[in-house]
Amino acid sequence: MPIEQRDKEVILTLPSDESTSVKVLLHGANILSWTIAGKEQLWLSEGAVLDGSKAVRGGVPLVFPVFGKASSGPTSTLPQHGFARLSTWEFLGQVSASPLTVQFGLGPENVSEAFRKAWGFDFTLIYTIALGADTLETAMRVENTSKVNWDFQILFHTYFRIPDVDKVEVNGLTGVSVKDKVSKSDYSESNTTVTVTSETDRVYEDVNNDVLIASAGKPLFHIYRKNVADVVVWNPWVNGSKNMGDFRPEDGYKSMLCVEAGSVSKWTTLSPGQTWECSEKIKSSL
Ligand code: BG6
Repeated sequence: MPIEQRDKEVILTLPSDESTSVKVLLHGANILSWTIAGKEQLWLSEGAVLDGSKAVRGGVPLVFPVFGKASSGPTSTLPQHGFARLSTWEFLGQVSASPLTVQFGLGPENVSEAFRKAWGFDFTLIYTIALGADTLETAMRVENTSKVNWDFQILFHTYFRIPDVDKVEVNGLTGVSVKDKVSKSDYSESNTTVTVTSETDRVYEDVNNDVLIASAGKPLFHIYRKNVADVVVWNPWVNGSKNMGDFRPEDGYKSMLCVEAGSVSKWTTLSPGQTWECSEKIKSSL
């Protein structure tokens, strides 16, 4: 069966290859697993909490309507990274057989009263996931169904599974403006290849190139983005991992790297009735 709907999850399986699949948790519409010919592509913490009581540590959490914590404005009373990853989405069904495509929806009726009080605007999010033989495409449509303008940020917080953090390289970021949250400084990326040798938490703003994650020169993941200009590179390293109760094993940082496509360095404003779309396609060579 290409689409299997369970109580709390939806599983997409390619009819041509049963070991190529995607598993989506309704809580957060969080992709938990993406396998190609049986090989897992994403990192999911062994300590990830999947019962809906907190955000999932791993896979592809969705960040909306704020990235991080806002210091002022209507999103400032929301938790870090907003409520999309903390809410249970509706499964809207299959929309295409080839590529195998499903959709999930989120609106104010799916969001807790506390979040609605904190951010009281009406909205519709439609999240589309398409599985190919070696690709995973995610797209988001954001609609303002309120009577007033509102601003948002959005991001696909992808945890990639990598063979070895010491060998990982991220290409396509040279010359890009960086907001570095670890060194608390802003600069332009001078390296042709970004490597990860310590705690890393950077927002690369307005990235024009496609991004490639490689391992010692061997391509792992090509990332193609539409309308999501920014790229966050995050690895918590030794201490950051220890400080997160749900990050397991503690040395799991060696086999993960978050490369997150989003629109986060600026706010996008939507007027009543307006829609906005973005997408990310990941092609794996892992
Ligand atoms: C990244 C941020 O996107 O997410 C980091 O840049 C943050 O600052 C990380 O630590 C994880 O966030 P959380 O809320 O899932 O622990």
